[in-house]
Amino acid sequence: MRERILAPSILSADFANLGSDILRVVDAGAKYLHIDVMDGMFVPTISYGMPIIKSIRKVTNITFDVHLMIVEPERYIGVFREIGADLITVHIETLSEPEKTLKTIRGFGAKVGLSLNPETPVEKIFPYLDLVDMVMVMTVRPGIGGQKYIHECTPKVEAVAAELKARGLDEKVDIEVDGGIDDTTIDEALNAGANIIVAGTAVFGGDIEGNAKKLLSHF
Ligand code: DX5
Ligand code: ZN
Repeated sequence: MRERILAPSILSADFANLGSDILRVVDAGAKYLHIDVMDGMFVPTISYGMPIIKSIRKVTNITFDVHLMIVEPERYIGVFREIGADLITVHIETLSEPEKTLKTIRGFGAKVGLSLNPETPVEKIFPYLDLVDMVMVMTVRPGIGGQKYIHECTPKVEAVAAELKARGLDEKVDIEVDGGIDDTTIDEALNAGANIIVAGTAVFGGDIEGNAKKLLSHF
């Protein structure tokens, strides 16, 4: 079975205490830090970008899972890698030449992630499964933290898991779920085959260590 990993999303963190709050999730056992970059174009909101990533790279060696919700992401892959992204995920909806962009990410030495929005048919990503290390299934509309998990997306996780298995890629490619994961929805995602679990509000809202440990207890 793939290793199960908790990836707290700093979108819901208190930015006035970002460094110390990140150390809290690392201490609690998170293995990835999920970093949402939004441009106000692909999604309506703008989050944060390079300077924040550069600063937090100094406080921890944890794997930086950078989720690019931006148009023409190929423009910035080199710079995100340079400032410390370990895994770079792009959205299929933003790619005019998916194969080229995914190979560019690999060329810069980062792990390669491919994401799809709730309304995008899962088959859209199937041609590219050989080129990725991770598939991210969005389980909310991208752009905002704290939304409700969309249960209709769970069959997409199952479909990705089945397709990876059929193609002998199940040991090689991780499945991440992003959006609306909390104590009540995490089991549904894990049972469907997801092994990397993003959680923003459910980790950074309140008692950070306690929240992270509670989610990890489901693994
Ligand atoms: C949404 C982001 C998510 C977000 C998840 O566009 O991609 O990573 O931080 O937040 P929660 O866990 O609060 O739904
Ligand atoms: Zn995200």
